[in-house]
Amino acid sequence: MERVRGRFVVLAVTGSIAVYKMIDLARRLTQAGATVQVVMTRSAAEFVTPLTFQALTYRPVEVEMFAMQDEHAAGHVAMGRQADVVVVAPATAHVIARLAHGFSDDLVATTVLATDAPVIVAPAMETHMWRNPATQANVATLRARGVRIVEPDVGPLASGDIGPGRLASLERIATAIDEALGLAQALAGRSIVVSAGPTVEAIDPVRFVSNRSSGKMGYAIAAAARDAGADVTLVTGPTALVPPPGVRTFQVESADDMKDAILAQLPRADAVIMAAAVADYRPIERATTKMKKKDLGSEMNVRLVENPDVLRAIVAARKPGTVVVGFKAETGDATAEAGRMLREKKLDLVVANDVADPRSGFGSDEDRVAFVSADGVEQLPLLAKTEVARRLVEKLAERLAR
Ligand code: CTP
Repeated sequence: MERVRGRFVVLAVTGSIAVYKMIDLARRLTQAGATVQVVMTRSAAEFVTPLTFQALTYRPVEVEMFAMQDEHAAGHVAMGRQADVVVVAPATAHVIARLAHGFSDDLVATTVLATDAPVIVAPAMETHMWRNPATQANVATLRARGVRIVEPDVGPLASGDIGPGRLASLERIATAIDEALGLAQALAGRSIVVSAGPTVEAIDPVRFVSNRSSGKMGYAIAAAARDAGADVTLVTGPTALVPPPGVRTFQVESADDMKDAILAQLPRADAVIMAAAVADYRPIERATTKMKKKDLGSEMNVRLVENPDVLRAIVAARKPGTVVVGFKAETGDATAEAGRMLREKKLDLVVANDVADPRSGFGSDEDRVAFVSADGVEQLPLLAKTEVARRLVEKLAERLAR
């Protein structure tokens, strides 16, 4: 908890039997030097009295939404505005559903809705409720908006069942708080451009040449950079993904379009991360009307020409100090190829992705990557793409701080 000293931590406590564990978290955060403002739902106050938290945090606990004497200062949003981090723990299925839908009917919901600070949600509930698709969809919605979910632990539950649903350990919640506070400012004031997805190269108005890129890595990087306080522009080829909220998104099709969109953003960029799988070739000619089989016959020949190299164009046009990151997907020796690309394209960092491992790479939710730079090779284990994105953002922040 080294990062909480002097910070304003809102601890939003909702109605689960796990409320009692928050007494210890509130105490530890206070002892570590944080100002801890506890907000309770009425049902949480049925499990533990506000007085208990008040005695440990030396601050009045908020339960009611409108305290008349505070309302001249819009008291119901003040806490969210003041927070450096908002921690909702334990979070019931009910509160998760309300947060996912943007409710503002009590002080916990209003605080989350009004804050720009990182939000951490630590769910605790009966295992069937946790596994229910409704809860999972709500959790996915929150996660897509940048809320950090501290997944529940597996173990015996108050219902007598055994399964996932137990509130995560205080250590895991404390680590999430530290990470959120550390990352929250890592890219503050920085402008980051991220490319994602495949490019699509038209043959005619209905047919195209493309590749299997899902866009997951680039979208995860854009979201992680946003969470780190950056102003983020995402330039994306066609994907099935929903653009991360709070990120300026430009939808493009071809490599040419992608190049133009990125070069237009380049003057204000502190870093460009080329996670897109730019199609290496495009049809030489693009028919303006749909080609007919009767005209083509039994064979169709599409002649392809090499696309512009977007990375090289960025490196050639960048102002000094702009950090440029490339990606290298290989089935062979990814790190050696990445090292070669680093030098040839004059990049600052290359993320080498081992796509020979079926768990890693295109379409999957996990990647086994190495960061290759002038500093050497840093091999990471198989990690969720969201975690790879977070580590890349940390690396980028380090680099920009030099
Ligand atoms: N890239 C680019 N413009 C292209 C092709 C690729 O900017 N026309 C970028 C990608 O976004 C990625 C990196 O370059 O960051 C990949 O480099 P590249 O040498 O094209 O890798 P591969 O496609 O893996 O090369 P090859 O197919 O030759 O192995």
